[in-house]
Amino acid sequence: MNDSINLKKYIREIPDFPKPGILFRDITPLLAEPTVFQEVINRLTAYYQDKKITAVLAAEARGFIFAAPLALALRARFIPIRKPGKLPFETKAFHYELEYGTDSLEMHTDSIHSDDRVLIVDDLLATGGTISACIELANHSQAEVVSCAFLIELSFLKGREKMNGCDVFSLIQYD
Ligand code: PRP
Ligand code: ADE
Repeated sequence: MNDSINLKKYIREIPDFPKPGILFRDITPLLAEPTVFQEVINRLTAYYQDKKITAVLAAEARGFIFAAPLALALRARFIPIRKPGKLPFETKAFHYELEYGTDSLEMHTDSIHSDDRVLIVDDLLATGGTISACIELANHSQAEVVSCAFLIELSFLKGREKMNGCDVFSLIQYD
């Protein structure tokens, strides 16, 4: 790990996107710096490597960016959660609210096993709607959700409070 890298420096702020009043936290400058992107994966791996994670679950699209390399680093299965109509096998769906709208997500019914130790990953925690939907989908399979990991946490939106005491780990916070 390289503690001297200040991750916040690589997050760009875009006012009024995608709607007036929303300050969008753009992760693309961070993704464009391989050493910084790698540092994100290294810090998440360091936190989770002793926690016996067997499955890493993430919602499209931005969740996939961090979840896939983290799953490989942890030698865990990667489980995609997708927007409706994208997954070809039998699915379970969950509807939820976003900071700027509503949406629903689907997961393959055979993807999580009841003895899995699940880590849920996303780029950003805002209201917690997306992550709560992912937790609901994981709970449906009776698996244990060990923790939820984020690059960015918008602490002022209190998304953590929606997560029923689940462990939360984030690398960048905005108060
Ligand atoms: C964004 C972000 C998180 C979610 C956080 O996804 O990637 O998944 O919003 O907001 P919440 O905590 O209020 O649910 P978005 O739905 O914009 O989709 P994208 O990943 O396809 O850009
Ligand atoms: N997803 C939900 N709220 C967001 C924000 N403010 N910036 C980037 N992604 C988001």
